[in-house]
Amino acid sequence: MNGALGFIGVFLSFLSDTTYGEATVPFACGNDTHRCPEICNICSDMYGAPTMDCLSTLIGHLCLNTFESSMESLNSTDWCKWGNVSGMYSNLSHCTEEMSDCLMIPWPNPLVEETFVDIHSRFFQDCPEEELSDPPPVVVLALVITPICMIPVMVVLVVFKTKNGDGSY
Ligand SMILES: *[C@@H]1O[C@H](CO)[C@@H](O)[C@H](O)[C@H]1NC(C)=O
Ligand SMILES: *[C@@H]1O[C@H](CO)[C@@H](O)[C@H](O)[C@H]1NC(C)=O
Ligand SMILES: *[C@@H]1O[C@H](CO)[C@@H](O)[C@H](O)[C@H]1NC(C)=O
Ligand SMILES: *[C@@H]1O[C@H](CO)[C@@H](O)[C@H](O)[C@H]1NC(C)=O
Repeated sequence: MNGALGFIGVFLSFLSDTTYGEATVPFACGNDTHRCPEICNICSDMYGAPTMDCLSTLIGHLCLNTFESSMESLNSTDWCKWGNVSGMYSNLSHCTEEMSDCLMIPWPNPLVEETFVDIHSRFFQDCPEEELSDPPPVVVLALVITPICMIPVMVVLVVFKTKNGDGSY
């Protein structure tokens, strides 16, 4: 009994040592950035644990808000110009990574993916394909065209094989 208590005591003091006494939270907190103690404290106070709900709140208030206000400061005709939005976009990505890392949640995760899908449907939906797309259009074209070109080839192959089969039996 005493031994167990002693062990827990050592374990606790080890924990508080590694968090430098800044984040006094009852769960593991990342230390990738200086904001981690603050972020973990928020989750501890509001949710009692580093949950996905807490991550969602953090991303909404600390990442998306910044992104949305910088998008709004841009003329919406510039939304599709990658050079104008790439900085904000990578800041948003970095922010979601920072929050996830502090809460020790793997990044990227479904919540982050959902955040980006949402961003795309709200701001980049109407962008012409060639301006703002992940794979270059040429690659997309090749991917789409290759199977289409393959269809006649397959048909010819099947017909050829069938004919051959008929002949040999
Ligand atoms: C995080 O903490 C570990 C040990 O507590 C330390 O070795 C590491 O350098 C820290 N990382 C940063 C980015 O401060
Ligand atoms: C947005 O850009 C368009 C064309 O580039 C311009 O005509 C328009 O005045 C701009 N709007 C604002 C609010 O700057
Ligand atoms: C958007 O990018 C263009 C160049 O691509 C630049 O001339 C313009 O100033 C940028 N607009 C803003 C608001 O940064
Ligand atoms: C990205 O974040 C950095 C650091 O917070 C800031 O200095 C920079 O202005 C941001 N860039 C954009 C395009 O918002």
